[in-house]
Amino acid sequence: MAFEKLCELDDLWEGEMESFEIRGVEILVVWPTDGEIIAYQGLCPHQDIPLAEGKFDGKTLICRAHSWTFDGCSGVGINPSDCCLARYPIKVVGNDVLVDIDGVKPMFAHS
Ligand code: FES
Repeated sequence: MAFEKLCELDDLWEGEMESFEIRGVEILVVWPTDGEIIAYQGLCPHQDIPLAEGKFDGKTLICRAHSWTFDGCSGVGINPSDCCLARYPIKVVGNDVLVDIDGVKPMFAHS
């Protein structure tokens, strides 16, 4: 499948995160401070809580439910360290942020 428009650059601020949806799939867009925009699975791999309800300080992402913590630049788990977020291919064309969600399965701790 091809890249599809997820949002516009104007919908985001550097150092923040926002969630969007494509075809019923929740996608978390993270813009780390001094980094590139990244698209991750929108639901926490622990118990499916929307990650956008958590906190992001420009570097570290913390789920609001049980404080699982992820590196915002890589999606790798910090606590616990044996988990990670699935990452979607993303590209920016003009003001449009495009992602390709096909072929990427969200990670879940208990699946
Ligand atoms: S649901 Fe995210 S830490 Fe439990």
